[in-house]
Amino acid sequence: MLINLLEVFRQKMNSRELSEDNNSATFQINELSKALEASGKKVYRFGFGQSPFPVPAHAVEALKQNATRKDYTDPQGLLELRQLISKHHRSILENTVQPENIVVSCGSKPLLFFTQFVLKDYELVLPKGSWVSYQPQAEAIGKTVYWANTEASSDWKLLPEELDKTISSFNEKALLILNYPGNPIGKTYSKEELEGIAKVLKKHKALVIADEIYSELTFSGKHSSLLDIYPEGTILTSGISKWAGAGGWRLGYCLVHKELGWFSKKLTAVQSECLSTTSTPVQVAAISLFEEPDKNQKYLEMARSILAPLAKRVQADLVEAGIECAPADGGFYLFLNFENFREQLASKEINTSPELCDYLLKAHGIALLPGTVFGCCPEELLVRLSYVNFDGAEALAALEGHLNSLNSLVDAVSDQFLSKYCPDTLEGIDRLCAVMRSI
Ligand SMILES: Cc1ncc(COP(=O)(O)O)c(C=O)c1O
Repeated sequence: MLINLLEVFRQKMNSRELSEDNNSATFQINELSKALEASGKKVYRFGFGQSPFPVPAHAVEALKQNATRKDYTDPQGLLELRQLISKHHRSILENTVQPENIVVSCGSKPLLFFTQFVLKDYELVLPKGSWVSYQPQAEAIGKTVYWANTEASSDWKLLPEELDKTISSFNEKALLILNYPGNPIGKTYSKEELEGIAKVLKKHKALVIADEIYSELTFSGKHSSLLDIYPEGTILTSGISKWAGAGGWRLGYCLVHKELGWFSKKLTAVQSECLSTTSTPVQVAAISLFEEPDKNQKYLEMARSILAPLAKRVQADLVEAGIECAPADGGFYLFLNFENFREQLASKEINTSPELCDYLLKAHGIALLPGTVFGCCPEELLVRLSYVNFDGAEALAALEGHLNSLNSLVDAVSDQFLSKYCPDTLEGIDRLCAVMRSI
């Protein structure tokens, strides 16, 4: 049974096609890790990118209190919620987005799909190293996907010249999806870098989905958005799955500037035919999240105070063992390059990233995702590592007494703190480094 699961996983990692039995790669690796654990094997779960932190308590309470809210809402989302989202983004963005141009949905994933559906006559451009679901969504709608090359030398970030080259290679209208901080690359873009990209988009009259689902988890606390730089062509998607630890609540949203008001109307129409509305109790609970920015700030400062030093420690350990990876700017991921080990791996008949992940999982219980599911060639020895396999509730509770200042939080998360509260993460990294040192 387990052997079969492993074989199915290996085959699927080699093929990115969408078929009726082909769940998203991240869910597959999670299921497989569970199955291996059930068979008694120790698994280091670096494959799944779910927030380790609990949903803020005041929102949980609001959800409980509103379980009786049984009526459908406006398909676009509760007005009060959209007003609060508009206010929330005003503090981050220079631009103001009106509630009529915000669409709330069951997570941002359906919005990404509906957006691609509404923009039927646009072909999709993705930077190599893009999140797993964009391509299968595009292909399900019948779009062609054009991959823009990215390189290790620029930390796998999209460069304007590569974007220009890719858009110039076809005649149809172009839709880019840019995700920052990025899954899988862990990097974000500065204002100047976004300006360079926006210049190319303007030149081609292209649209862009700015997937900013990890923006609140930028370690520096500072985030620039394409919506400020290219308001006439940017569709911003975000939600509460990552920063508020509420992935299973399923609430995301999309916002556009008034120039794209036609788009939010079409999006709402499609959504109303497919989903009717987003869960009413969850929308009301989300209102309580956005209503209390001070509480959110404290929660986020604690989350970032744990994630940033953990990412730094993991990256430093990997680099010391010869595994190349750039420091993370935010989110939950590091993008690892095993190129330095090509020869040693080849002697074990490991020549591709799916083969490498297969070996690490079977022989050492280390679950990672191969670069192939993010648009990389199999021969590129690229792998995504998600470093959030720790108990976030316990780690946050340990920081409660240090909330008086940001400095006090930063000081509290020492190496000893990480060893105590993120033991599986650090043990798994030690194991991975030891495997590569001895290979
Ligand atoms: C880059 C990126 N975009 C979008 C999503 C979808 O998030 P949700 O549908 O939970 O809002 C995810 C989830 O893993 C993600 O990593």
